[in-house]
Amino acid sequence: MTAYPYEIHEYDVVVVGAGGAGLRATLGMAEQGLRTACVTKVFPTRSHTVAAQGGIAASLSNMGPDHWQWHMYDTVKGSDWLGDTDAMEYLAREAPKAVYELEHYGVPFSRTEEGMIYQRPFGGHTTEFGEGPPVQRTCAAADRTGHAILHTLYGQSLKHNAEFYIEYFAIDLIMTDGACTGVVAWKLDDGTIHVFNAKMVVLATGGYGRAFFSATGAHTCTGDGGGMVARAGLPLQDMEFVQFHPTGVYGAGVLITEGARGEGGYLTNSEGERFMERYAPTYKDLASRDVVSRCMTIEIREGRGVGPNKDHIHLHLNHLPPETLALRLPGISESARIFAGVDLTKEPIPVLPTVHYNMGGIPTNYKGEVLNPTKANPDAIVPGLMAVGEAGCASVHGANRLGSNSLIDLVVFGRAAAIRAGEIVDPKERNQPVNTVSVDAALDRFDRLRYAKGSISTADLRLEMQKTMQSDAAVFRTDKTLAEGVEKMKAVAAKMDDLKVTDRSLVWNSDLMETLELTNLMPNALATIVAAEARKESRGAHAHEDYPNRDDKNWRVHSLATVDGNKVTLTTRPVHLDPLTPQAEGGIDLKKIAPKARVY
Ligand code: FUM
Repeated sequence: MTAYPYEIHEYDVVVVGAGGAGLRATLGMAEQGLRTACVTKVFPTRSHTVAAQGGIAASLSNMGPDHWQWHMYDTVKGSDWLGDTDAMEYLAREAPKAVYELEHYGVPFSRTEEGMIYQRPFGGHTTEFGEGPPVQRTCAAADRTGHAILHTLYGQSLKHNAEFYIEYFAIDLIMTDGACTGVVAWKLDDGTIHVFNAKMVVLATGGYGRAFFSATGAHTCTGDGGGMVARAGLPLQDMEFVQFHPTGVYGAGVLITEGARGEGGYLTNSEGERFMERYAPTYKDLASRDVVSRCMTIEIREGRGVGPNKDHIHLHLNHLPPETLALRLPGISESARIFAGVDLTKEPIPVLPTVHYNMGGIPTNYKGEVLNPTKANPDAIVPGLMAVGEAGCASVHGANRLGSNSLIDLVVFGRAAAIRAGEIVDPKERNQPVNTVSVDAALDRFDRLRYAKGSISTADLRLEMQKTMQSDAAVFRTDKTLAEGVEKMKAVAAKMDDLKVTDRSLVWNSDLMETLELTNLMPNALATIVAAEARKESRGAHAHEDYPNRDDKNWRVHSLATVDGNKVTLTTRPVHLDPLTPQAEGGIDLKKIAPKARVY
């Protein structure tokens, strides 16, 4: 029996994480009268969604013709044909509804002259199934869209009596006979332990960008949901696909929104050449992110980078009217000044591809239910467990996500999880008794880490992991770099048993909290490099120089990684090829989304 006393809280639903997906799920659950708790390690409006800049994709047609099927086509092509067809259809079809809901909840979107929601172009979003010009599909609140959404959803959740447990760190899932029945959490400001006993747990913990050295993600992006799932013996999916955003500020990693190129910004090399015209003659700087990041990396590798070390690229906005910059891009004007020391009305911004998004995550169906695929049933669900947002993998982004498809993923699937919970969670039913064996196991692990007496500090081991991932799971990969990366990461992960935690306190103990976070980052990182080493093709963000082509015959499959210590076991799961709606009933013509060469 554990030496830690704990308080028990009973809910219908517990959502872990209060970013866009977590809050949309929380709000949707509470609106239906489900007793809902949201457990979050940071204050809700400080969740990383607050940093989302450019906007949220939905085919509203406010700025010109658009159609959900064109959005779906772009998403399929963006995913390099690895996304699940049913989930991608659901995303594109539900997107307008989800955005209008946000508008009605009170999100202060930017407006057109006519008072409609303003939409801007973003990379990879096109018209006429990729045959027409770029579309303006990305709904924006200046360049602070995530901030606007997060504040609105938090206010609405409070209005509907969702209960927030703020600055509580989720330690582990409570698993009972293969089902999830709650979560154990540590209250950071007074050191008490809390058991949330629930009929449904929703993981909305965000990505694991901080497994890398330079990332646009906040320091809180430590893959906590993926870590908990891995420790429960469940698989992670498509972890090899890590998105590098083309325009992180050189040296700082801070995001400069793709909306900057959407508003007319462009990239140049040391010769002043708009090199994207060479690589992507039709969509140029608005090709999809993986393509632009690779082209920038090639320019630098071939000696055409800018700066004294020729190691970055210039992003120009100085040709745009200052009124446009002030109205549409006020946030990045400030970021450029603070983090790059440039006045973007006069000078280009130094930028570099920077880790930005994890396409992979906890496998789910399009309703948000977590999968534990078996050979006999690749769509088997884990009762009582959902995952949404960047923590999950529905999979709508496949091998590469289109810009502004992230915010829409958060709200569409946060909402979908609430809809599904409304169908399967009975508020009249009593909660199961707390599974004390599972709680004790979580608290034993907590205690072992609290008293860890090894020889390496959490900060040092984290840095080793981040440097290894940055150099060996990079924009371009080879058999050699990946094999070396796997060996190095296994050695790094083995040192988890030799951690040294010096602060034993239970109150505001950042050493212990960062150690718990490292135990989450590590399985995410390991799964990433091992799955990358195994995938012998190039697809989306996985650019393998020894296998430069996509190989649909052998590799149009989701990879699944189960992590146990520093051992990773890989299997696969078929991609869903069937749409939700047959063509005869208004669905997409499957011929339109059949695999083909992916050119922009
Ligand atoms: O560039 C951006 O504003 C980022 C958007 C996104 O990742 O969807």
